[in-house]
Amino acid sequence: MKTIVVYYSSKGSNRYLAQKIAKSLACDLEEIKPRLNVFLFFLMKINFGNKKLKHSIKDYDRVILCGPIWMGRLIPPLRSFINKYFSEINRLVFVTCCGSTAAKKDEKFGHGFVFKEVESMLKEKCELCQAFPVGMVLPIDKKEDSDAFMKAHLNDDNFKGEIQELFDGFVEKITRL
Ligand SMILES: Cc1cc2nc3c(=O)[nH]c(=O)nc-3n(C[C@H](O)[C@H](O)[C@H](O)COP(=O)(O)O)c2cc1C
Repeated sequence: MKTIVVYYSSKGSNRYLAQKIAKSLACDLEEIKPRLNVFLFFLMKINFGNKKLKHSIKDYDRVILCGPIWMGRLIPPLRSFINKYFSEINRLVFVTCCGSTAAKKDEKFGHGFVFKEVESMLKEKCELCQAFPVGMVLPIDKKEDSDAFMKAHLNDDNFKGEIQELFDGFVEKITRL
């Protein structure tokens, strides 16, 4: 299964996750680079799209798309990637390191709505959506502290315990898909 991990990250957690997935699968990796400051235009609901990728998406059996969730929405760089490369994508796995937990996924800012949107855009091409809530790396007394998880970032020091187990299960699952 020829796989590429394609990611967008603003603060680094999704970059870390994407790099970790690519390393585990020994596959290619490429960063999505928006044409203009994505966050500024996100607030204005304007999307200028992304720069052209170096890799040819149609050469891969599977794309693993990785990026954050903002305000309960599929963010412009990820949306543009799906729209631009839809016909070239064979199968897609969507992965996010986000703020929302599994318990809160269906709340207003949860990842559940974004997963439904990705599934409806990709239809049968979408194999799996997986969230890695960043709160998993926080100590138990900080897990519900929104200020703490907005400041939390994945790194080699905190990527252990339950998030490492979730990651290992995810890698095993996609290897079997
Ligand atoms: C402006 C902003 C809005 C966010 N909104 C959400 C949200 O609605 N739902 C969610 O699950 N996480 C939300 N988050 C948390 C990010 O998804 C999370 O911090 C993510 O790990 C950031 O990824 P990055 O470090 O790769 O940029 C938000 C973060 C920011 C900065």
